[in-house]
Amino acid sequence: MVSETIQDALNAQINRELYSAYAYQALSAHAEEAGLKGVANWFSVQTQEELQHARKLYAFLLSRQGSVRLDTIEAPPQKFECVLEMFECALEQECALSVKIGELMTLARKEGDHATEILMQWFVTEQVEEEDTARDIVDKLKLAGARGEGLYLVDQELALRKYEAPKA
Ligand SMILES: [Fe+2]
Ligand SMILES: [Fe+2]
Repeated sequence: MVSETIQDALNAQINRELYSAYAYQALSAHAEEAGLKGVANWFSVQTQEELQHARKLYAFLLSRQGSVRLDTIEAPPQKFECVLEMFECALEQECALSVKIGELMTLARKEGDHATEILMQWFVTEQVEEEDTARDIVDKLKLAGARGEGLYLVDQELALRKYEAPKA
């Protein structure tokens, strides 16, 4: 059984992961509208990943006889000046999520909920990767240039990303 406190915290995290998926989908649409198919692809794959994070928490809650409560999802930002701003926004979002995962980990420890703590370890590792990947693209755009030929090359590279469904 999962405690009420942990249940609430996990439901809040499900909402944050779904918001994150929603925000990435908005970024993907924006990129596609700007003719950046590679960037759109990258954000679309990212949407899939965030949905998978939400599903992971959802399945965990149910397996521990908890209740899943799906709340309202806030509207994501719609306007971006340039592609660099889009990735800076993504990086900021991932950093904020990492803080929340850290808080969940601390809470699970405080509550003596080992199962949730172990699940959070997976998320902590995942966030390190998420931040690193987003930061890498921000750096690339700064180096190659966020317009013209540099942007074209980054867009080509981001077109190669494919979503890998988690192994059962
Ligand atoms: Fe996530
Ligand atoms: Fe993420």
